Amino acid sequence: ATFRGVKSTPILLKTPFGIALDIDGVILRGDTPIGGSPQALRRLYDPSGGLRIPYVFLTNGGGVPESRRATELSKLLGVHVQPTQVIQGHSPFKKLVPRFENELIIAVGKGEPALVMSEYGFKNVLSMDHYASYFENIDPLSPFKHWKDQVAGYDKYSPNEKSMQNDPCSQRVKAAFIVSDSVDWSRDIQVLCDILSTGGLPGKERSSQPPLYFANDDLSYQSLFPTERLGMGAFRIALESIYNSTNDKAMQYTSYGKPNPSVFKNAENVLMQVVRSTIRHHNIEQNPLKTLYMIGDNPTVDIRGAKEAGHPWFSILTRTGVFKGTNHSLYPADMVVDTVEEAVD
Ligand code: G3P
Ligand code: MG
Repeated sequence: ATFRGVKSTPILLKTPFGIALDIDGVILRGDTPIGGSPQALRRLYDPSGGLRIPYVFLTNGGGVPESRRATELSKLLGVHVQPTQVIQGHSPFKKLVPRFENELIIAVGKGEPALVMSEYGFKNVLSMDHYASYFENIDPLSPFKHWKDQVAGYDKYSPNEKSMQNDPCSQRVKAAFIVSDSVDWSRDIQVLCDILSTGGLPGKERSSQPPLYFANDDLSYQSLFPTERLGMGAFRIALESIYNSTNDKAMQYTSYGKPNPSVFKNAENVLMQVVRSTIRHHNIEQNPLKTLYMIGDNPTVDIRGAKEAGHPWFSILTRTGVFKGTNHSLYPADMVVDTVEEAVD
């Protein structure tokens, strides 16, 4: 990837720092830019549109491929965002392709979770919407869910004919991935309990639990409503509580996303790639970035993650999202500001 205006980026060459920007509660609430985010982002480019300051979006959200998210962010914010600059909660799922490449896996969540997984390289993935539709009466409440007929963004991804020659009901599900926030908690919890307690064959006898992966473990996040909304971590608690009440063995799972230190390590590598792709025509050796700023709104996720990742991370907490006070007692940020624009200043 190259950036426009590459020739006029001397500041970037001298800049020993990079920025990781949280999205929900810092850049956007719903689809609405907040905290002067378009102006703040414009300052990271030179007047000809070349990148002056390396930055990435580091969000626990998702549900669409990184390329699509980059296009959406470019439109909403008025800057040219490259797909490589978008790291979502589910981005690390890519690493699991060698393990599940040809196995039947289920992708859960809003947006197009199966499309996300197929773009990563999983060849036999079904969205929960699609998978559940093969089982008659698996959700006894479905006749009452009239709203489902009008759901926008219903996952239209269809697997190729070859992988679907076998009826999905008789194929063992080898893993379930919670890619983005569940839209229909009652159906998803029911069918996930079916998959997990039967070794991946709903309706059949009990067997050992297949692996379960969550893109993040956020208890809540900031959307358009004035107070926080329940996130994937809340969904995980609900599923785990129900699963553990109806099974002998406790539910096993892995959560990705912030605050895991590996997410910050990866962001550091991606920021260096952004620098390299921007200055490659200059034939100049780039030194490692001396400081990496995490600008986030959630102390237990963004600030905790940056603190635990350690050097060279420096945490900045905004007051446009989950946090509204002076500083957090358990995970105090290195700096607290009102908005992302102030943070960039
Ligand atoms: O669903 C999204 C939410 O859990 C967090 O998004 O951008 O604040 O990391 P973000
Ligand atoms: Mg946030």
